[in-house]
Amino acid sequence: MTPPRPVVIGSVILIGPMGSGKSSAARSLASLLGHRFSDTDRLVVQRAGQRVSEIFDREGEAAFRQREREALLELKGWSRHVIATGGGIVETPENVETLRSMGCVVWLRASLEVLWRRVATDMNRPLLQVLDPRAALAQTVAKREPLYSAAAHVSVDTSGLTAQQVVTSVHELVVSFFLASRPPAA
Ligand code: S3P
Repeated sequence: MTPPRPVVIGSVILIGPMGSGKSSAARSLASLLGHRFSDTDRLVVQRAGQRVSEIFDREGEAAFRQREREALLELKGWSRHVIATGGGIVETPENVETLRSMGCVVWLRASLEVLWRRVATDMNRPLLQVLDPRAALAQTVAKREPLYSAAAHVSVDTSGLTAQQVVTSVHELVVSFFLASRPPAA
């Protein structure tokens, strides 16, 4: 009898709105898979030598998106990574194809109530520095839903889940994804 062929788990990229828990899920998933963890925001900050909010203030959102694109392209060459992305990465149209070519793209979703609860206490996000941040969040999420949907291979609704349950769900989906994308046996 031929032994079962192992499933090679490639890179996993987490997308989704601010507050969807991408960074913490990516960290845990990376350690579960034995992959390396990366974060596009963190890479942008390292390369720019400025915080995200400083880049928005001094250079504007378009410059941030350019830096974010460069960070993504830098990460594209790396294998066996779990990558957390900034919530607006799908706003740059070319990123959608890039993301999908890098591995399994997982969209972490959550209801507006849950997202708001998570971001309301952390007002460092430049796009929420407005008079009505809750409305801004709602608008941004609605605008980006079709973009996340176009970029994602799979999605998980994290609304009622604990952090551990999110990682377990993502892990199951990712294994199925790479299992299904194996070339047929010779
Ligand atoms: C942004 C989300 C942020 C960060 C920047 C812009 C966005 O990342 O990239 O503030 O446009 O939604 P998080 O999704 O990790 O908050």
